[in-house]
Amino acid sequence: MDSPAAFDVKIESPGGEGYDMRTIDWRDDRIVAIDQTRLPHEVEFLEIDTVEDLIAAIRSLAIRGAPAIGVAGALGVALAARRHPEPAELRAAVDALRAARPTAVNLAWGVDRVRARLDAEGTEAALDEALAVLAEDVRCCRELSERGARWLVETVGPQVAVQTHCNAGALATVEWGTALGVVRSLQEHGALTHVYASETRPLLQGARLTVWELAQIGVPHTLVVDSAAASVLAQGRVDAVVVGADRITANGDVINKVGTYPLALAAARAGVPMVVAAPESTVDLATPSGADVHIEVRDPEEITALGAVALAPKGTGTLNYAFDVTPADLVTAIVTERRVILPAAGGRPDDPISRS
Ligand code: MRU
Repeated sequence: MDSPAAFDVKIESPGGEGYDMRTIDWRDDRIVAIDQTRLPHEVEFLEIDTVEDLIAAIRSLAIRGAPAIGVAGALGVALAARRHPEPAELRAAVDALRAARPTAVNLAWGVDRVRARLDAEGTEAALDEALAVLAEDVRCCRELSERGARWLVETVGPQVAVQTHCNAGALATVEWGTALGVVRSLQEHGALTHVYASETRPLLQGARLTVWELAQIGVPHTLVVDSAAASVLAQGRVDAVVVGADRITANGDVINKVGTYPLALAAARAGVPMVVAAPESTVDLATPSGADVHIEVRDPEEITALGAVALAPKGTGTLNYAFDVTPADLVTAIVTERRVILPAAGGRPDDPISRS
């Protein structure tokens, strides 16, 4: 399909000018989203007409990243309400959507928020609520990014080199990003020197997606393999690690892409702040700690093969965790659109003072 205007991807305009890509949106009574499985080779948009196709897009990571799947969940309930007038069918479709991926709290949050409005006020109100979730994501990402950039400049100095993991950029949200949103705010303030991106085995969100985004916005960057990240930190090349999150529990544990925990350990050893940038919708006060979170385990073939090429002997047993838990004491700061929480210094997301 031709990209609609709001989806223009300005690959040819390094320097950050007019980077107005939208990862996910509602158009002509359906969901439109960039197919992230095709990046960085092709920018293709999916037109999603059914809840079944939306679930498949979320499971295959065509739509991925906690805030983006939260928006997908919200829009998905609006879509379900339009396609399934029969109440039992509608309920089944919404339940299946909510369960499409287990770890990021945003999906259930987006579904529940729009479902409540649907139940109370009907189909058109559900769409209004879903569009509000979408608009809020844009605003929250901007606000938390600005707050994160300010905190970094005040804490580590006027010029900041960042290490990041996975993709917490525009592709993981509606259009701006969380961790890469902070990078973009630093860049806007002339306070960014460099970004090190780890490739993020096994699905390479760092290599395929983060590097692609950084190239478009003209940020100087270097790709490293995941296992080099600790050395990059030890060499003093980095002033802060900045990552996103899929869930932040009441005690300040952070669940994010597998590989985040080793990065936090290495950052602590190197004396580099470990910063998590995420919207409040990622904070899950109902879950006490990381030990209570369902960590998604994905298909063995993601690590035993690369496309058609086998990487391990046939039948090799795997434990393909998609996420890991970084304990609160290794998290220097969690920055949201409303606050900065300092877990390593004893701050907790469920502390009523930090919630004000
Ligand atoms: O499996 P993915 O690609 O959905 O994992 C994404 C991450 O772990 C991101 O870091 C997280 O969702 C934050 S995105 C702003």
